[in-house]
Amino acid sequence: MTNTTDNGPLLEVRNLSVDFRIDRKTILHAVREVSFTVGSGETLGILGESGCGKSVTCMSILQLNPARTTIYPAGEILFEGKDLLRISPKEMQHIRGNRVSMIFQEPMTAMNPLYTIGTQLMEAVRLHRPGIAKAEARELVLEAIASVRIPNPDRIFDTYPFALSGGMLQRCMIAMAMLARPKLLICDEPTTALDVTIQAQVLELMNELKEKEKTSIIFVTHDLGVINEMADRVMVMYGGRKCEEGETAEVFLHPAHPYTKGLIASHPSPDYTGRRLPTIPGGVPSLKDMPKGCPFNNRCSLATEKCAGTFPEYREISEDHLAGCFALEQQGENHGRV
Ligand SMILES: Nc1ncnc2c1ncn2[C@@H]1O[C@H](COP(=O)(O)OP(=O)(O)O)[C@@H](O)[C@H]1O
Ligand SMILES: [Mg+2]
Repeated sequence: MTNTTDNGPLLEVRNLSVDFRIDRKTILHAVREVSFTVGSGETLGILGESGCGKSVTCMSILQLNPARTTIYPAGEILFEGKDLLRISPKEMQHIRGNRVSMIFQEPMTAMNPLYTIGTQLMEAVRLHRPGIAKAEARELVLEAIASVRIPNPDRIFDTYPFALSGGMLQRCMIAMAMLARPKLLICDEPTTALDVTIQAQVLELMNELKEKEKTSIIFVTHDLGVINEMADRVMVMYGGRKCEEGETAEVFLHPAHPYTKGLIASHPSPDYTGRRLPTIPGGVPSLKDMPKGCPFNNRCSLATEKCAGTFPEYREISEDHLAGCFALEQQGENHGRV
């Protein structure tokens, strides 16, 4: 197994469910019984179309879902032996931006427009090393800015966020996240808002930093190509459920869940010649229209009555490769492989 160390995985999410209370009578289920692990130095990709519960899952780790309306009816989020769903706000404050950092799709939302990049990055250092001398902190910040390949770190230090392009700002966010030397870095679609060339550069940079620092990463994206480039293992989500999980190469070569198969079929391969790709019919339902049983049943060509009843047990496809689909039962032991 690649996802465990001697002391077990760095992060173990067990059976996580997340609800939102909309009004007195309405509770919506955003995430359902999701379990996964992230090992030391490992990158777990979370893949799924928009609205499948990827962000809500990640925000649960740092308790960033709106406190007033979010309910965690079941589950555990074990990080370094502590259940993050049950620690005090003070303990969570210590973990946030320190042991666990998060990078979002819109870097501007995580930066304060009133302070220079330098001031905000210095803050990130102080969080990690409260007593550090100012000159030393400045050195670390300049080094971090240089490490994300921004020319003239001195100049950027005194720049305000609004003066930077999206790509530059996202690099600064990566520098800020890495300055805290987190054990776990959560990246929620960090390159989705960037154009393709800049996206490729930022991904390469993240891979380099990962190699150097051995940071564990959760990388969320709806883009299969990005998962392929970044993730050791992948968890595919649909309708708030985990539908498939395994080593990236294994899942992409032998997808077992009809949703994963559909995502792969609709993704252009490198030798794509412009022919029309098949798409999965329909769209991701909103929480209030979520189908019962397997949430994918109303878009799935293999669905039977059973699929609208309950969500299936996960079945082992091969070592460290799971999928939850009733159709796998009928396909017997080789799960449709030839
Ligand atoms: N705070 C919230 N209150 C109510 N519904 C929410 C909230 N946050 C997300 N949702 C809903 O939960 C579902 C999953 O959202 P999200 O995790 O953001 O999807 P994605 O996979 O695109 O990241 C969506 O239907 C979204 O509208
Ligand atoms: Mg999201």
